[in-house]
Amino acid sequence: MTVNRRRFIQGSAGLSAISAMSLGRAVESSATCVEMSLSAPQIEKPLFIATWPFGKASCEAALQVTQQGGSMVDAIEQGIWVTEADVKNASVGIGGIPNAAGDVELDACIMTGPDHNAGSVGAIQDVLHPISVARMVMEKTPHVMLVGDGAQRFAFDNGVSPTDLLTAEQRKRWQAWQAAESVKKPQIDEDHHDTIAMLGIDTKGDLYGGCSTSGWGYKIPGRIGDSPIIGSGLYVDNQVGAAGATGLGENVMRHCGSFLVVEMMRNGATPTEACEQAVRRIAELDPKNLGNLDINFIALSKQGGFGAAGTSQGFRYSVASPKESRIVSAKAMTEKAIGPEGGNRK
Ligand code: GLY
Repeated sequence: MTVNRRRFIQGSAGLSAISAMSLGRAVESSATCVEMSLSAPQIEKPLFIATWPFGKASCEAALQVTQQGGSMVDAIEQGIWVTEADVKNASVGIGGIPNAAGDVELDACIMTGPDHNAGSVGAIQDVLHPISVARMVMEKTPHVMLVGDGAQRFAFDNGVSPTDLLTAEQRKRWQAWQAAESVKKPQIDEDHHDTIAMLGIDTKGDLYGGCSTSGWGYKIPGRIGDSPIIGSGLYVDNQVGAAGATGLGENVMRHCGSFLVVEMMRNGATPTEACEQAVRRIAELDPKNLGNLDINFIALSKQGGFGAAGTSQGFRYSVASPKESRIVSAKAMTEKAIGPEGGNRK
């Protein structure tokens, strides 16, 4: 897959994208265009956004669920199912890169704005749809998070059937990784990017979100990243907006990244500005410099505006509403490209 290294240019790119849209031929546009359309009355709800181009199929599935009368929670869950079930996706669900012991360990969470409820699972094995287990934790227990064997037992006790998540291809790669010290470098690029975070707003303006990942490839068994941590990989505040993260979880979870993005929106920032301000705040505190953080955020405001920003060139996200379904380039905050050398998972 070719990495899109087009530089984000505030203003001119936005204007050209808008004129392209007005001609009805925009497939991919810049974050500026999105921001400018934030308050525009033509935004149609429900609307879903998700990390990465692979999120497009998930957003479209979520939209379809609502169009067929399903709830927003159903939409987030079933939208994320699409990516979790994609064996070719090496960073979410079945086909995900395993941990150092060769076991695929998954993290997921879900959050509902109207009742500020949440459920999550961490380091769960042998479950095809961790997002559904997160939903069950939210709906069937007084807890927010279950991890490891306990999460798995809970899933099986609640009717989930075991699934072998390690594909033959990932087993072969893991064996090669074990054999060669030189390849012990997790990768992040267009083919190895991680995590689906999905945010949705319904026709009433209520917000929802979900997140699912197999996490850092060849991680130490038991490692849990940002994705299932409420406030880190995902946060939904029904008064203000919602945010989700992708990238190197350790650099998100030490800063409560998604919560931070939402707080920036509370202070008046647009979704893209909020993502950018959160990344800058993280970079100010973090010993790593901006180019080495390898983090990206998407955000959705209470008004239905959306945007994104990340530390490297090449982060894209997906948007679907009754009006359109498209892939958008996020604002990149450095010249560095996402890729095996662009990441920081050493
Ligand atoms: N962002 C996913 C992870 O680091 O696990």
